[in-house]
Amino acid sequence: MTRLYQPGIFEGVPAVARYVVFSLAQDSDADGIKQALVRLSPLSNGSDVVVGLGPSLVAALGAQIPGLHEFPAMEGHGVTVPSTPGTLWCWVRGDDLGDLLHLTRKVQKALAPAFALRHVVDAFRHALGESGHGRDLTGYEDGTENPTGDAAEQAAFTHGKGEGLDGGSFVAVQQWLHDMDAFEALTDDERDHHIGRRRDDNEEIEDSPTSAHVKRTAQEDFDPPAFMLRRSMPWMMNMQAGLMFVAFGESLYAFEAQMRRMAGQEDGIVDAMFSISRPVNGAYFWCPPMRDGKLDLRRLGL
Ligand code: HEM
Repeated sequence: MTRLYQPGIFEGVPAVARYVVFSLAQDSDADGIKQALVRLSPLSNGSDVVVGLGPSLVAALGAQIPGLHEFPAMEGHGVTVPSTPGTLWCWVRGDDLGDLLHLTRKVQKALAPAFALRHVVDAFRHALGESGHGRDLTGYEDGTENPTGDAAEQAAFTHGKGEGLDGGSFVAVQQWLHDMDAFEALTDDERDHHIGRRRDDNEEIEDSPTSAHVKRTAQEDFDPPAFMLRRSMPWMMNMQAGLMFVAFGESLYAFEAQMRRMAGQEDGIVDAMFSISRPVNGAYFWCPPMRDGKLDLRRLGL
């Protein structure tokens, strides 16, 4: 596949990152929005800043991205999956938090006055291992079953849909707040059975319950298979902490199928993850492809 995509999506998880959500200022019009996006485009080389546009922003520009829709809220079986739509999302990436502050300010200035900064979550990589994967704050390696190489490109990026769409990606962004007390109250065995893998050696546990996280989300167990590229990172603020779950797909199908199964919407069985963590927000965005080192915004009429 020609590399049309924002490279940061493929590159993997950086040492530190910020997830920044912008909303539209009250009096912004289509012209102001377009000018802001044109100013943002050279700043977002796709590596230091990965950009995603929400369904409402695409609609405000009178454009259409086939397959993009708002995040579906889910309720029932004792769990809540909230939907908190966002307008524009930036994953600001690097290896120094100070640099990220300055970069965030540049992005903020480029987008003003049409866009106002709404929400920032600081995130970091934890316990990077030889496998190249970090760990969730529960201590479990995260990213093991991610597709790699060509399979990752196939899973994460649009192909065969034409110029301005190919190389684009749909991202699900969902912040999970861990209940560390609940997690710490479990025995080591119980923890492993919640996840479906052993924390010590990362081996999958064949006889873990149907509610085990990796059993609920086994990508090849969906019809059609639901592969996607997860790029989640731990976050913390004061003494609250959790996982910023982020998954890129050539469509939103894989995430939605997995989320439905996790939330018990398919068979009433809820993912054990919900007993130690819960989602506090959730939104979908479309990450445009790149062209000549800038965001390719032709589909938005730019
Ligand atoms: C608190 C939130 C979450 C935590 C801590 C978490 C953690 C983990 C861990 C430790 C693994 C096993 C290693 C690996 O393959 O990466 C895993 C696998 C996986 N998770 Fe999550 N996860 C969370 C939320 C989600 C959500 C919301 C989804 C999708 C809706 C998801 C989808 C997956 C998938 C697809 C796999 C690989 C399954 C396979 O094919 O074996 N996870 N997760």
